[in-house]
Amino acid sequence: MKTITLGSGLDVSRLGLGCMGMSAFYTGSGQDDAGATTTLHRALELGVTFFDTAEMYGPYTNEELLGRALRGRRDDVVIATKFGTIRHTAGDAMGLDGSPENVRLSVEGSLRRLGTDYIDLYYQHRMDPSVPVEDTMGALAGLVQEGKIRHIGLSEAAPDTIRRANAVHQVTALQTEYSLWSRDPEREILPLVRELGIGFVPYSPLGRGFLTGSIRSVDQLDESDFRRNNPRFAGENLQANIRIVEQVDEVARQVGATAGQVALAWLLAQGDDVSPIPGTKQVRYLEENVAADALSLTSDQLAALDAVAAPVGDRYEDMSSVNR
Ligand SMILES: NC(=O)c1ccc[n+]([C@@H]2O[C@H](COP(=O)([O-])OP(=O)(O)OC[C@H]3O[C@@H](n4cnc5c(N)ncnc54)[C@H](OP(=O)(O)O)[C@@H]3O)[C@@H](O)[C@H]2O)c1
Repeated sequence: MKTITLGSGLDVSRLGLGCMGMSAFYTGSGQDDAGATTTLHRALELGVTFFDTAEMYGPYTNEELLGRALRGRRDDVVIATKFGTIRHTAGDAMGLDGSPENVRLSVEGSLRRLGTDYIDLYYQHRMDPSVPVEDTMGALAGLVQEGKIRHIGLSEAAPDTIRRANAVHQVTALQTEYSLWSRDPEREILPLVRELGIGFVPYSPLGRGFLTGSIRSVDQLDESDFRRNNPRFAGENLQANIRIVEQVDEVARQVGATAGQVALAWLLAQGDDVSPIPGTKQVRYLEENVAADALSLTSDQLAALDAVAAPVGDRYEDMSSVNR
């Protein structure tokens, strides 16, 4: 597996592993920790060193799972986790909290659950409009000084917020949704992070599984699956969006790969400062996804992918919490 460097010299495998679905939000999550652990260990064997979690996945159980699975391998991995969507200042209620006090409370819990004394990359998961980002960054910079975290990241921050945050302390990575059906970052965000020397971590790079072609109806998904309430997966929208998969499939047939591999190879072709984190709990999907590292696409194939149809439907039911 090739490696890339995010901002501030943080080296990661250029494909990471998104661990969220092992414990939360998707069909089958939280039901097979042994299987998820096997997947995590196989990822290490395949050269994946970049593991993505958050305190809110579970909540908490995903960090615990990762902590158990990576025991004894701490020096071999880059652990990224996130805070800011659980209010430890208010009885651990769900809700945004970017206050310095919450930053300090959150990190202690994550360190404990992950079984480590430092976090490689600590992201603010969602921006809190009631707390100036300068205050949150000040607290995070303090954690860097104390050695509790090594790098600072932001997730779904808007351009102005990124600039303000980076003026307080170098931001190492921005994690935002980016894939063949979520291309908003190309307009302002990608040029900005490049200007500021910030790495980019595309989340949901497989379109939450949709771009692999395996989801043709929400009836395939558990009642509690997050995607049942996602506008892009709803009724007629999903049917309209299937044409995107068909266009990706066309390229996949040309190169003898799967649609998911092509979706990842397209992302990898966007730059050597981009590290997508496809999520899976299954070894067979992991192996398929990791093989995209070796897949290169011609300029014609990349152009065909650049031209796939725009999706129908927002990427969240409530778009007010992203890009701010
Ligand atoms: N910062 C944020 O706000 C944010 C938001 C969402 C996600 N994330 C992070 O990004 C990571 C990845 O995003 P994601 O999990 O939402 O979406 P994703 O990586 O686009 O897709 C994951 C889904 O695709 C399925 N899948 C994976 N590989 C496949 C393959 N080769 N063939 C068929 N299906 C495949 C998975 O199935 P199985 O579950 O059955 O393996 C899962 O349902 C997450 O794990 C999380 O760490 C961050």
